[in-house]
Amino acid sequence: MDSIHICGGYPLCGETRIQGSKNAVLPVLAATVLVNGISTLYNCPKIADVQCMIKLLESTGCRVTWKGDTITVDACHISSTSLPGEYVSRMRSSVILMGALLGREGQVSISYPGGCVIGKRPIDMHLEAFARMGVALTETCGVLTARAQTLTGGSIPLAFPSVGATENVILAAALAGGETVICGGAQEPEIGALCEFLIQAGADICRDGDGTVVVRGVPALHTVTYRIPPDRIVAGTYLMGCMAAGGQIFLRGADGGQLGAALTVIRQMGGVCTCCPEGIGLVMEGRPAAVACLKTAVYPGFPTDLQSQLLAALTVAKGESVIEETVFENRFRVVPELVRMGAQMKTEGNRVRICGVERLHGACVTAQELRGGAALCMAALAAHGDSRICNRHFIDRGYASLEADIRSLGGRI
Ligand code: EPZ
Repeated sequence: MDSIHICGGYPLCGETRIQGSKNAVLPVLAATVLVNGISTLYNCPKIADVQCMIKLLESTGCRVTWKGDTITVDACHISSTSLPGEYVSRMRSSVILMGALLGREGQVSISYPGGCVIGKRPIDMHLEAFARMGVALTETCGVLTARAQTLTGGSIPLAFPSVGATENVILAAALAGGETVICGGAQEPEIGALCEFLIQAGADICRDGDGTVVVRGVPALHTVTYRIPPDRIVAGTYLMGCMAAGGQIFLRGADGGQLGAALTVIRQMGGVCTCCPEGIGLVMEGRPAAVACLKTAVYPGFPTDLQSQLLAALTVAKGESVIEETVFENRFRVVPELVRMGAQMKTEGNRVRICGVERLHGACVTAQELRGGAALCMAALAAHGDSRICNRHFIDRGYASLEADIRSLGGRI
């Protein structure tokens, strides 16, 4: 059954271990294509997007094994640079394989990765950056082919700190001739994870604190092992669930250092957070305080990937909140579903206004995309009565063990 049932209205109580990061493991898996050897990755989350990325790696000739949370990729022999549309269309982040295959083989063919419900999600910045590196781009019948006799480094200014574009340039530059300087690159922790992996494999990369990344090409990358960092968005999701339902939870392995903006908001809402080397604790009693005005922003600002989960918590806040989404153009698809649970909220362009209510009631709701679906589960934990969240396959793209996690945290799922 493609749905999740939750009986909510009870405070949470318990602890769970936080999975490896989806948005770190995907670019690192793409980077294994650059390694003329074997890459071993620990703490990989068992999620649909990783399965999809593995299919794409295997289509290029990589030999992949996956045992428990350990993935090995043998990329000694790349036999194809044409990525199958069936998997590319399933996952937009397949676009970062362009940088990896251009870096390793000097060419790649990929069908245009589609947009999704949260936005058009063009790849113009990726393509402009590749063109600056000497890549010739042609498109026939929706298939993009990129070729470079020799990938040359250069100065790559990004008009917007796009996470994917930053990752793609780093991947293309790692083995390219000369030096590549990215100006205005993304600073999300997942960029750091990608750079750590590549440096451990022999790449020459340095980053400074304002989005500048300098990559000096090296002749080859060697066999490497790497542990995927914890998923800050999964951790933030469960924190928002506790803010909505109340209670006391501990998220083992969560890194508070990567959730600064979210923890600041949670404290403003009345949550008592403690961060330690082992993880993040949260105690929340009663209804949260409203957030008068908050904008999502690129890192280190409040993450767009936690926006829907924050909305879920604010539905039961004391007072009125206004949240503005500045990264994606259509990321309020969860609002009508939260209204079905009794929330009082209204979108006004790229803002949503929420008047907190005493309590939500259980309802049958439908996930439209990954983070909105997770937000509905968090709202259902607070809602009194039974809820059913349909289209759970969206949630399975990013949450490896949602049921087990929620059960460990004291939720009835
Ligand atoms: C990454 O997507 C994440 N995905 C997203 O997480 C996250 O929401 C996003 O970064 C922002 O933090 C992965 O890491 C796999 P962007 P990405 O390029 O790289 C526009 C999740 O829930 N843009 O930083 O695609 C774009 O349309 C997912 O885990 C261009 O206009 O995000 C968007 O409005 C959802 N042209 C904005 O920039 C381009 O060439 C941010 O996009 C590229 C992007």
